[in-house]
Amino acid sequence: MDKTCKHIVFLTGAGISAESGLSTFRSEDGLWNKHRVEDVATIEAFERQPEYVHQFYNSMRPELFAAQPNAAHLSIARLQKELKQHKISIITQNVDTLHEKAGSNNIYHIHGQINQLVCLQCGHVSETWAEAHSTDVCPNCHTQGNIKPNIVFFGETPLCLDVVDNLLKTCDLFISVGTSGVVYPAAGFVQIAKLYGAETYEFNMEKTSNNYMFDHHIFGKAGSTLPTFIDELIAQYQ
Ligand code: OAD
Repeated sequence: MDKTCKHIVFLTGAGISAESGLSTFRSEDGLWNKHRVEDVATIEAFERQPEYVHQFYNSMRPELFAAQPNAAHLSIARLQKELKQHKISIITQNVDTLHEKAGSNNIYHIHGQINQLVCLQCGHVSETWAEAHSTDVCPNCHTQGNIKPNIVFFGETPLCLDVVDNLLKTCDLFISVGTSGVVYPAAGFVQIAKLYGAETYEFNMEKTSNNYMFDHHIFGKAGSTLPTFIDELIAQYQ
């Protein structure tokens, strides 16, 4: 680890929330082995059967509302509090709000958030944990039938990519936690960070698809491996 590091970027995926009891996507009992992406997570599915897609995300909200951050989320929040002279950003692919619940800041949800709705007519984003329906009216433009979960579907562009690009190009340390490295553009973020000079770490339980792009690999459950690593970072940089 480089002692001059001033800007740390985390990229998190479903694996960081697994120890909070939330399903990942591609494990044996993962979400995409129980539901077809083409039925619930494409823009075409939403156009074809909006109420069915709303019901899918309505059914997920209570569990994600109740979920609590685990030791991995809490350790990142602790790092942000302890290293006040550093810029520490979190790019997450997760639609849960466990980084927020852990007390973190500088969080960029590139795949959206389960507790937000977006109007396809005017772009207005509203926050709610309540159910949403295909007949809902936008609180901003008052049109009916244009409200969509603010979740990036396959076929849509991820959010905040301009800010994220800048973070990747200016960070000194890039740390990926609990993502399988198969969904782009997130899977390619490590390459941008590395090209611009960052040292790169991957925390996962298994060998990932983009494993070869990282400088360092730390295998194991993030709830155990990440807090230890973060203790070392704090000791080194404080
Ligand atoms: P995946 O389900 O593809 O991958 C989860 C990764 O977490 C796997 O590599 C696991 O080995 C790892 N993992 C599981 N438990 C872990 C633990 N306790 N500690 C460390 N690692 C652990 O989930 P993502 O990579 O997040 O997109 O998936 C990326 C995107 O694909 C998601 O954001 C979602 C999905 O389609 C959208 O919905 C747009």
